[in-house]
Amino acid sequence: YNLQPLLLNLLRDRLVPELWNLLSRASEQAEKRGWHLYLVGGAVRDLLIAGKQESRAAGKQLTLPPPPLPPPPLYLQDIDLVVDGFHRSADVGAGVELAKALQTIYPEARLDVHGSFQTAALLWHKDEVLGSLWVDIATARTEFYPYPAANPEVEASSIRQDLYRRDFTINALAVRLTPPHTGELLDFFGGLIDIEQQQIRVLHANSFIEDPTRIYRAVRFAVRLGFEIEPQTEGYIRYAIASGIYDRSLLENSKAPALQTRLKAELKYILQATYWASALQLLASLEALKCLHPTLELNEQLWKQIRLLDRWLRRFDQGKSLVHWQMRLEVLIAHLAEEYRGKVAENLQLPMDSIQRLQHLAHAHNQVVEFLSANRLKSEIVQLLRQYELRTLILIAIQSKRFIRRTIWEYLTILANIQSPLSGNDLKQLGYQPGKQYKQILDKLLAATLDGYVTNNFDAQAFLAERFPVK
Ligand code: CTP
Repeated sequence: YNLQPLLLNLLRDRLVPELWNLLSRASEQAEKRGWHLYLVGGAVRDLLIAGKQESRAAGKQLTLPPPPLPPPPLYLQDIDLVVDGFHRSADVGAGVELAKALQTIYPEARLDVHGSFQTAALLWHKDEVLGSLWVDIATARTEFYPYPAANPEVEASSIRQDLYRRDFTINALAVRLTPPHTGELLDFFGGLIDIEQQQIRVLHANSFIEDPTRIYRAVRFAVRLGFEIEPQTEGYIRYAIASGIYDRSLLENSKAPALQTRLKAELKYILQATYWASALQLLASLEALKCLHPTLELNEQLWKQIRLLDRWLRRFDQGKSLVHWQMRLEVLIAHLAEEYRGKVAENLQLPMDSIQRLQHLAHAHNQVVEFLSANRLKSEIVQLLRQYELRTLILIAIQSKRFIRRTIWEYLTILANIQSPLSGNDLKQLGYQPGKQYKQILDKLLAATLDGYVTNNFDAQAFLAERFPVK
């Protein structure tokens, strides 16, 4: 059936008018130069999925009352455009030129040019009408991989090849924005059927070998869209992992840091999403956690720890100082044998404090568990635990037995907040000479308070009179 009018209507109806205008301007500029312009990638996928849901809803309206409000416009933050310059070498920089032409029409947008990839981006930051918008404009290209998992090298090519280098069929769809055939859907690889059948499918068998981070992307899209990973694609994933592709790519490839950066970005994306738990389970069932370390397995114990972490994060997330996705990642890494932790954290380019926390975790863990396993006074507990950062304590707690965990919880929720009933000022008023001994007196007083000997001001003064008589 003819999708052309459907797609144009979808675009016009679902985009805010200013965004629709922007696409029209871009198309005019491309047409003027004899180029074709396409909308590609996530925007097309999301438009078609939205369109499908709407037509389903419309079908149901026969029995249901009409919806009270029209559907909200699709909120797109990322727009990917591809210019096809017909292989003329002079048109290699078409994407960049188009972006520059658009910037003269929209001077408020920021222009970023990435020369080596012949792409440019126009950025609107919190614009009144467009919000925060990122428009990538690329020149149609094919990615030529000189060796597995390398960064793409670029050569001018046609739209079909440009789409062929992409990860999944549902992301390899394009809508033509320039005439003739404006609104035509380019679907060379069966993306529309896969949207219909709700499946994630790669375009060729080597996809995961070329770029192992696509394994994580497959999981992310599957969980986020509620799609299945198509069986053959799953086979390719399992094959790539079993062949140790990720480690091989790191060893053979001088661009290992870039690969790690992309893996970290995918991990962040997944671990901060609302669907992180299902995604993690799917990654584990595909054995994809082995990309982090060959020994990493999501066993029952690790699963329990990561669920526990959620409770601790909810309780102790004051001031948003805890970065949830990173803590989740730290729990995964902390599950590895002690000697691997630092290295894995370093490879993933985690922040220095995180690397160090993981390097020293085993030592801290042993110290805390050994100390708390004996019968201790509250004041002793506080003295020990206050040496550690909240994040370290959380990691120790979730790896420990219930008794230790409860003690750390009690420390964080109650003991750490208890204060000495008297302050330095009070000591001064009571006639103590200001000086170094203040800290010592107040520490003792706090310990007595924690251990229950002192419960109020009166007790405190009696305690001082007995232990530290004013000279
Ligand atoms: N892409 C790819 N392989 C990757 C990363 C990206 O083929 N490892 C391609 C996909 O075709 C994708 C496009 O680049 O559609 C843009 O990537 P990205 O912005 O990460 O994904 P979107 O599909 O736009 O998804 P999202 O909605 O999550 O932004």
